[in-house]
Parts: sequence; C-alpha cells; structure tokens
Amino acid sequence: MTQSVPTSSNSVSPASSKFLTTAELRKSFIDFFVSKQHTHVPSSSLVPYNDPTLLFTNAGMNQFKDCFLGIDKRDYSRAVTSQKCVRAGGKHNDLDNVGYTARHHTFFEMLGNFSFGDYFKKSAIAYAWEFLTSAQWLALDANRLYVTIYETDDEAFDIWHKDIGLPAERIIRIGDNKGAPYASDNFWAMGDTGPCGPCTEVFFDHGAHVEGGLPGTPEEDGDRYIEVWNCVFMQFNRQPDGTMEPLPAPSVDTGMGLERISAILQGVHSNYEIDLFVNLINSAADLLGIKMKTKLP
Ligand code: GLY
Repeated sequence: MTQSVPTSSNSVSPASSKFLTTAELRKSFIDFFVSKQHTHVPSSSLVPYNDPTLLFTNAGMNQFKDCFLGIDKRDYSRAVTSQKCVRAGGKHNDLDNVGYTARHHTFFEMLGNFSFGDYFKKSAIAYAWEFLTSAQWLALDANRLYVTIYETDDEAFDIWHKDIGLPAERIIRIGDNKGAPYASDNFWAMGDTGPCGPCTEVFFDHGAHVEGGLPGTPEEDGDRYIEVWNCVFMQFNRQPDGTMEPLPAPSVDTGMGLERISAILQGVHSNYEIDLFVNLINSAADLLGIKMKTKLP
C-alpha cells in the first residue's frame, strides 16, 4: 500500500482528483474499515450513558471506554463509527475557537476506527495512510500531508518514515507543550481520568494563500495546516491521582472530523463552505424569506 511521497511541500495542486459529498465521505470511511474487518457501530447518544465523568459525548471512543478498560467484552475487537460530538465545555472544549477559525464547531461528526487489544500502531498508521492517499479511496495529494508524533514515540516515527516512506522533515515531534507531564497535543485523554495514550496526528496543508504555520510553531493556530486525523495509541488508564495504569491490552482510538475532511475533498478551505453547511444555510435563508443562494462547492 505504500505510496511514494514527494518531498516538495508548497504545492497548490488540487487536494485530490476526487470530489466527495459529506454523505459519500462518511460512507467511504465506513466501507473502508468494514473491508478491514471492522464492525460498523452506530453513533451513540450525545449524552453519555452511565459515565459521570462526561457531560456530553466529546469523541468517538466514549461509547467504548469500558472496552478499552477490559470491563466490557463485545463480540468484535475492531469497530468503525461516525459519532456525533459536542465540544462546548469540559475537556476538549472548542467553544472559544468557534467563529474564529474555519474548522472548529461546537457540534460535529467524528469518523473513527477502533481496536480493542487487536491491532496497534503499525496497522493504525497504515490504514490511515491507505484511506487518505490510495487512488481507490480519497486519493489525497501526499505532498500536502504532514504528521506529528509524541516527542518520545520513536516507534511511530519509524513506522511513518521507514514503512510509509514519509520524509523525516514531514514528521514533527511534539512534547509536553501544555505545562505538565503528558499534557501535550500529542497525548490524548478523554477526560481527567480514563483511557489515554500518545497519538499521531495527520495535518493537511491548505496552501500558502491561507495564514498559519506548521504544528509546533507560533503560527500553528492558523487555518493553513489543519489537523484532520488523530490516531491515539491507547495504553493507559489515568487515575484520579494522576498515576498511569497500563490498559489490559494496547488499543487504538482514532478521530477524523467529517466536516474538515469534507472541506478538503470539496476543494474549499472553510468547513462552512461544504455541502452540509451550504444546504443548511440556503434552507435557513428560504425559511426566513431571504433572497440569497450560497453556491454548493
Ligand atoms: N479520540 C481521539 C480524538 O478525539 O481526537
């Protein structure tokens, strides 16, 4: 599956030879992972069932928390979902970014694949790369992709560099940049306690005409290089006193914002310009009797 990776990075070529609607993208993601022996599980409720640590569902992995902890046994060890999420409070609160960036929402949909003690880093990275870049799936221009890894995760570095073929300068190490051990953009936790682990994130370059810098630079919050997919290597169960207990088995939890990847596959820079939002905006205008039509991408 390895695709050769060009080394120049200032391409303004189309992101992909394909155009996919949001609905087609959601289906494509689910079809891809079903073809890799994942069970398609429906989105869970926005209000988590039986979890006092969360007010709203903030990630696809919430409904599988007990599977990662080894408490809940299902008849599958691989799952794929398109999960409705709210990030307007608590951990992973995006509220202050909404309206200021082209990519944050309070309510959005997260595509995710999960392994409960089944595959780990190597397959998680290989699946992500295959789905994003292979001609059969999204056919994204690999030249516009960068990745971050947790600073000490040499294993993830080697997989990206040696197995996938990504040049070393396109793999960025991020340490504990949030002021405490394991407080890092590349160490993901669903809340103050519970399953957590180092992660690798895939970034897409929207092009030099958009302001923003690479992850780890002072300009990283701009909209040029945006995180599209976070692959978490679930390894620990964080306790209330901060200690990290190993999970029963290394696992995988990934999350890709449906609206962000739709923007890329629809050749627009802002999430608000994708078919999903344009149709909503036009319907709202019709209902209000406002004569305006925003063009579909
Ligand atoms: N659970 C991975 C994420 O939300 O990014």
